[in-house]
Amino acid sequence: MLEKPRISIILLAGGLGGRMQSPLPKQFLLLDDKPIALHSFDLFASLRNCYELIVVCDPHYRDLFSPPQEIPLRFADPGLRRQDSVYHGLQFCSPDTDFVCVHDSARPLLEKEDLLRLFEAAFAHGAAVLGVPVKATIKSSDENHFVKETLNRNELWEIQTPQIAKPSLFHRGFALANQKGIDVTDDVSLVELLNHPVKIVKGSYENIKITTPEDLEIAKRFLEHAKV
Ligand code: C5P
Repeated sequence: MLEKPRISIILLAGGLGGRMQSPLPKQFLLLDDKPIALHSFDLFASLRNCYELIVVCDPHYRDLFSPPQEIPLRFADPGLRRQDSVYHGLQFCSPDTDFVCVHDSARPLLEKEDLLRLFEAAFAHGAAVLGVPVKATIKSSDENHFVKETLNRNELWEIQTPQIAKPSLFHRGFALANQKGIDVTDDVSLVELLNHPVKIVKGSYENIKITTPEDLEIAKRFLEHAKV
């Protein structure tokens, strides 16, 4: 394995966040006096493995992001779907990068220790994702909401971001998804399309995605709790 693999970070901040009931997209609301998107941006910018940062956001918000001088920062415009935003970001990754790591900026509580364990899994397996074991009982249903099946909870994970893979896996996965018109809701689904293994790394239940005003309150509590 390479001494210090180069990791390109694609930080997704291009959503409108309709469920937040706020005119400002949720990733730019303040959490602990700092825009939500900057919490994970600053963490990525502090890593020695961070080769380059690509932020996908409306041009209006670009000025918010400023990394340390030694890390190149590029911007991509958002697409209609999340996967389009990832695709746009991928076009700005340097051809010589070793890994591409995609993160939802709406997850500000990502822990450095989880991120480093995720990187190690990607170096070993080519693709990896953070997730937590599902606590609830999950059933699938038919179109009339009758239960089809109760899924085996011991095999279920709630998948989070970051999600990381070798760039060639993302490029080949996108080629297949675009050719077949497949919608994906996360990034390693592109790798799964190729039947390439994806390692799940157990992360933290606190790495929540902020979607509604209640989520923002929960994130504030987690941060207050971490400080005491
Ligand atoms: O909408 P959702 O919460 O699933 O979005 C996850 C992340 O992807 C958010 O950080 C959002 O800003 C980003 N996103 C994007 N482009 C889109 C949709 C979502 O960058 N078209």
